[in-house]
Formats: sequence, structure tokens, C-alpha cells
Amino acid sequence: MLKDTIAALKAAPADPIIGISERFQKDPRKEKVNLTVGNYLGPDGKIPLQATVQEAQRRLLEQRTVHSYLPIEGLKGFCDAVDVLSFGSESEVLLSGRSATCQAVGGTGALYLGGVFAKETLGISHAAVPDPTWGNHIALFKKGGLELSQYAYYDRTSGCVNVEGLLEDLRRLPERSLVLLQVCCHNPTGMDLTHEDWRQVLEVVREKDHLAFLDMAYQGFAQGLQEDAWPVRLFADAGVDFLLSVSLSKGFSIYGERTGTLTVVVQSEAEAQVVHTLLRRHIRALYSNPPRWGAMVAELILNDEELKKAWEQEVEEMRLRVRTMREGLDREGKKQGVSLDFALKQNGIFSFTGFTPQEMERLRTEFGVYGIDSGRIAMAGLTEPVLAHVAGAFAAVLKAR
Ligand code: LMR
Repeated sequence: MLKDTIAALKAAPADPIIGISERFQKDPRKEKVNLTVGNYLGPDGKIPLQATVQEAQRRLLEQRTVHSYLPIEGLKGFCDAVDVLSFGSESEVLLSGRSATCQAVGGTGALYLGGVFAKETLGISHAAVPDPTWGNHIALFKKGGLELSQYAYYDRTSGCVNVEGLLEDLRRLPERSLVLLQVCCHNPTGMDLTHEDWRQVLEVVREKDHLAFLDMAYQGFAQGLQEDAWPVRLFADAGVDFLLSVSLSKGFSIYGERTGTLTVVVQSEAEAQVVHTLLRRHIRALYSNPPRWGAMVAELILNDEELKKAWEQEVEEMRLRVRTMREGLDREGKKQGVSLDFALKQNGIFSFTGFTPQEMERLRTEFGVYGIDSGRIAMAGLTEPVLAHVAGAFAAVLKAR
């Protein structure tokens, strides 16, 4: 009987990231620190409402925009502006029209859509993601029906990227695998590939006829908006076909608006037009059409010269604040007699502390310092007033080893 099947269901385990953040919300202690989710928090420990976003929203409200459906593929002005941000205004890919971009339900939706496109339209059956990676990469591709494996990425002993292992693993994958590559601010390690590493990865992708899926969720938070997009431009100039997912959540602090894009880069404008119709077909069946508010906000900012300049400045300030927190953690660690210099070696929003799941749990229960079990902390959750407390907690755990 159906009712017996339902009665026998077991509750799903808490999400490794969101679940711990939910635990944090319930913690009554004043000194608690949330380093779980990859949100950018301002110096006051809160998600900012950026001035440019505020201004764009004011203008949109004034225009009394109605809440009609967007086209299946989303807002064209938004997609075009994100393309320029990703590829650069002089990009041959854009000038020749050999890319198809659709708005997506955040970066997550773009990844899922890309996985479905690879599986159902291109007949790709195998996907590979870094070890370690953002847990949802694995869940999303599996849900999209892809078989999954992980390629070597981070060497826990040296604290560096295992480039040789990575290349070897990419060579060993079945030909025409979908290979997920994080463009910058690697989640969860904070260790990115160098330009030379990227060139080698591109060669293997070409050799093995893999389909690279570049995931850019934190553009601007590592080295800068242009610098961080370098790998996208490398692949674009190389003339290979590839996928690109972009999340606008972080740069505009519009997490809940689910604002992102998926781009498929192909060989010609004619191919891109065909791909665009096929993406639309998938979108229609998945969620009909994307949400509009976040895309309208980003579209307005990115297409207004003055607002765009101000926005670029905002992103730069966010990036620099995270860098300052990295330096602060290292400094406070030294005061406590321990080395927390991982914070300086790593990049962007995340850091890999090297703590075990048990140590992460001790940090939560004893000190109210909430990271996730993998040892990842979101550096953007640090603020000046909590640095000493967090460094003290880390020092206590390190000294107990
Ligand atoms: C993260 O890794 O914390 C973010 O990508 C947010 C999420 O949904 O997990």
C-alpha cells in the first residue's frame, strides 16, 4: 500500500552546508560566527544591500514594471551584459555570435541545465568534478542522469593543487566526458589553477574531446573582475566548444533572486542558433521561464555606464575586505602562537583549514565558530571584531592535536 511506503520513508540528512547554517541560526550564543555558506558579508557581518542594487531597484519600482513572464531564455539585455562581463567586450566569440546564452535559475540552475543539455542533447554520459568540490556539483549532475567521478585536485599534505594528478585523471576519463572546472575562488579549497595549469588542462580537454563546463560563481572575488575571467577567455580563444555557468548572486548580493546564466560556446553562429532553441526546449520543460527581478536589476546596472563603474568599485571593495580578513586571521593566529597562513595562500571567498570533521564540530559546540565538516570556512563571514575569537578557537583546536 502507498501509505505503508510513505510511512516507511526516512528523513533526508541535513544538507552539509545549509544544514549547518540552519544550526547556526538556532545557536543562542552572542559570540557565534557564521563561516558556513559562501555569501559575502559586509564589515557588519550582514549581506549588504549594495548602493547600485538599491538604485536600480528604485528605478525599476518607479517604472512600475509588471510581473509578467520573461521569455523562456530570459532577458536578452541581461544575457548580453553578462556575456560581456565573462568574455570581454572585444571577444571574438561574441562578435561572431558563436555562443548561446540563456538566463538560468542562479548558478545552480545553470549547472543543472548544462548537465541536462550535455546528457540529453549531446549524449554525454560521464561527468567529472574536482576532488574535493562543492557538494551540490555531485548532486546536480547525478540528478541530471550523469555518471560521476572525481579527478584529483587538492593535495591535503602539501596544501597545493595536484596538477599532475589532475591532468592524469582527465586523461584517464572516458573520451567526451563533461569536465567541471571552477574558474576562480575554488569551492571549497580556495586554491585556483595558475595560467600555465589552465593551458595544460585545455590541451587534455582537446586531446580527449572532453566538454569543459566552466563554473564561474565568484567572479571578482579572487584577483579582480577581468583577471578572474581569464580561463573563460583562454577557452574562448582556443576555439573549443564548451559550457559556462555564471552566478550573479555574489557580485550583486542578490542570492535569493536566483540570477545566473548558462552559455554554450560552439563553432558558428548557425550552430549557436540551433543550440539556443534546444536550451529553450529544456528550460520550458524544467521551469518554463526564469525569475525576473534579479536579472532586471543586474541588466540595469550593467547597461548604465555610471552604475556599472560604481558596481565594479563595489566588487573591488568586497574583494579587498576578504583579503584583509585573510591577513587578519594570519596575524591573530601568530598572536596565539599558531600558523594560520593557509588563509594567505588561498584565494577568494573560501579557505580550507585542514581541520577534521571532529575538529569542526568542536569549533561549533565549544566556540560557536561554524564552518562545514570538510574543513571549509567562508572567509567573507569574518569581521574585524570576531577575528581574535576565531583565531583563538582555531589555536585551541590546533594545540589539542
Ligand atoms: C556555498 O558553497 O556555500 C554556496 O555555493 C551556497 C550553497 O548553496 O551551497
